[in-house]
Amino acid sequence: MTHNATLTRRSIRKFKDVKLSDALLTEILKAGFAAPTAKNTQLWEFIIVDDMKILNAFKEVHRFSIPLINAGLGILVCGDTSKEDHDGYWIGDCAAAIQNMLIHIEELKLGACWIGVYPNEERMAMLEKALALPEHIKPMGFIAVGHPDEQKGPSERYNPEKIHRNGFGKR
Ligand SMILES: Cc1cc2nc3c(=O)[nH]c(=O)nc-3n(C[C@H](O)[C@H](O)[C@H](O)COP(=O)(O)O)c2cc1C
Repeated sequence: MTHNATLTRRSIRKFKDVKLSDALLTEILKAGFAAPTAKNTQLWEFIIVDDMKILNAFKEVHRFSIPLINAGLGILVCGDTSKEDHDGYWIGDCAAAIQNMLIHIEELKLGACWIGVYPNEERMAMLEKALALPEHIKPMGFIAVGHPDEQKGPSERYNPEKIHRNGFGKR
């Protein structure tokens, strides 16, 4: 079978001390821009964060954000709520962009980990301040990304018991 990056992708939290090139970063971002958005609003904004002062300050409000420190680079995916057609759509739109990038990162043989931001108010407020986000730009999630320094096998989570047909519990 051909390599299927959706099946092999895992969260990578350790990274080599090698800077990610701008060309690779652009490749990854293109995958984000290719994601679907409700009513095609493309309401996302991508903020590259490689200022260690900001990444270290974020760790103070989110103790599981160490992968960002290890990578030395994060892509913060934000939603422009002023462009939303319906309240709350920005969350799914941003999540789709994040997942698209995670898959492409796997295809590029790089490593990444989704670092949760929304809906934690403390994390959101810290980033809104540190990155001077306008009121209508909401931080959804960070991607720590870099050259991987750990290897993981596929997750093998396929479970027919979680699959239903025309009603819960019906197969
Ligand atoms: C919304 C969301 C938030 C997450 N936040 C974090 C996080 O803050 N820190 C972290 O190390 N991993 C985080 N993860 C990664 C999950 O822990 C990981 O996807 C899960 O354990 C499954 O492992 P896998 O990605 O290797 O398949 C997050 C994943 C999602 C979808």
